Amino acid sequence: MYIREAKDSKLNQVLYVERLAFGQDEEAELVRELLIDPSAKPILSLLAFKEDVAVGHILFTTAHLENSENTTKIALLAPLAVIPDAQNQGIGGKLIKRGLETLSESGVDLVFVLGYPEYYSKHGFKPAGCLGFEASYPIASEHSDAWMVQALRPDVIGSVSGKVICADAINKPKYWQE
Ligand SMILES: CC(C)(COP(=O)(O)OP(=O)(O)OC[C@H]1O[C@@H](n2cnc3c(N)ncnc32)[C@H](O)[C@@H]1OP(=O)(O)O)[C@@H](O)C(=O)NCCC(=O)NCCS
Repeated sequence: MYIREAKDSKLNQVLYVERLAFGQDEEAELVRELLIDPSAKPILSLLAFKEDVAVGHILFTTAHLENSENTTKIALLAPLAVIPDAQNQGIGGKLIKRGLETLSESGVDLVFVLGYPEYYSKHGFKPAGCLGFEASYPIASEHSDAWMVQALRPDVIGSVSGKVICADAINKPKYWQE
């Protein structure tokens, strides 16, 4: 298995992985929109390959804190997708790890995700609401733990807080119903 940055020429593989993993078109269409959304830039799009076949994809897009001076660099992880035949082989975890390492090298401070708490907590994410970070749209209280954050730099949590505003393409209520 190897991981590569997904260039524009790999769009069809990215969309194929998204469709197969989620079993529907919605996430693939979201990815397609995010990749051309100027407010999402810079982005980090990684594909995982097994025997030269794309089996996993992860996308990180730029976000910011509302009413802040935007000195804190923020990324949103969404979506993460591994095709059914390749699940439970550590590929999702490796995509997260590689993504976080790359973002850290480029100076990103905080990474947010809305997803399965049991899964993302294994990869260093913690519930974000109680740390002072509001999601773009309200998350139902029974799912509040699904809104999570990971700091890539010491001391950043506690020194900033507020509502996280994501790229225009994902800044729609339908994407925030966990
Ligand atoms: C969720 C997903 C990305 C995980 O990728 P993966 O490569 O199969 O995961 P990994 O191999 O890295 O990790 C497997 C572990 O995660 C756990 N896991 C998988 N899906 C999980 C879920 N929905 N909730 C909690 N844990 C989950 C597995 O039980 C396994 O646990 P173990 O290590 O204790 O045995 C993949 O199943 C997928 O693409 N699902 C469909 C799309 C989706 O839901 N994406 C996530 C959006 S937030």
